Amino acid sequence: MRFECRTAIVTGAGHGIGKAIALRLAREGAQIAAVDIDKANMEETAETIRKAGGAVLELAVDITKIDEVKAGVAKILADFGKIDILINCAGGGFQQGIDFKDIPAGSWQWVFDLNINGTLNFTHSVIPHMIERKYGKIMNFSSIASKTGLPKRSIYSASKGAIDGFTKTLAMELGPYNINVNSVSPGMISYDAEPPATNGTWLGRCGTPEEIASLVSFLVSEEASFITGADYLVDGGRVLGPKGF
Ligand SMILES: NC(=O)c1ccc[n+]([C@@H]2O[C@H](COP(=O)([O-])OP(=O)(O)OC[C@H]3O[C@@H](n4cnc5c(N)ncnc54)[C@H](O)[C@@H]3O)[C@@H](O)[C@H]2O)c1
Repeated sequence: MRFECRTAIVTGAGHGIGKAIALRLAREGAQIAAVDIDKANMEETAETIRKAGGAVLELAVDITKIDEVKAGVAKILADFGKIDILINCAGGGFQQGIDFKDIPAGSWQWVFDLNINGTLNFTHSVIPHMIERKYGKIMNFSSIASKTGLPKRSIYSASKGAIDGFTKTLAMELGPYNINVNSVSPGMISYDAEPPATNGTWLGRCGTPEEIASLVSFLVSEEASFITGADYLVDGGRVLGPKGF
């Protein structure tokens, strides 16, 4: 129970990696503020936590809207009294890959709003409280896309590159307040019960949301207290390069 007496916000808690992280941290004793724009999925996550005996607060918040985020943070503080951990997991991009030259001009702002502004909104709203308490763990979500590039994912790659710069700078600014700021870069994660085989990783398969949650759980715990400003690949060796010559 390494998160006993800790409160964690998890954005994107209704599905995929965010859901796995919310369930994992709850299992390890954290009180969870489950944030998602998809109310039905978020309630499903919350119900699972409650049934297992955990404490959870559901927040149907659009992370791109600063007023909703600020109201959400105020509610978390009113209900739980403190915030120890912020997991900025909600994110995404164009479902179908598309070359940059074919994207209609001006149609990409929403990707930056979701991946950058959502992270900025929650972080900006939470850090005054963390600074005051001189304690905090912030986990941002990057991607292998910002490390190697990813064809047909130019906007997504650019937005995750911005997360990389933000994470490092924030770690410098918040270090004096005992706040750790790190990021994780998943690659090829599948939601299937059995992760499908792929030639795209050196482990020969896709990863699972739980495999991301394992690392995140360590990084936001006291066991990782001297780690800040770092980005961790969880990609089955994907960025090592292609198989064969
Ligand atoms: N899945 C992968 O293979 C992969 C690879 C690299 C990076 N990532 C990153 O990991 C993170 C999680 O990815 P995932 O695959 O679990 O995503 P997902 O699509 O499964 O879940 C994202 C969740 O965020 C919620 N969400 C979307 N917009 C929102 C908004 N405006 N406000 C609040 N909630 C909102 C969605 O409702 C959903 O529940 C993302 O930042 C993603 O970019 C994922």
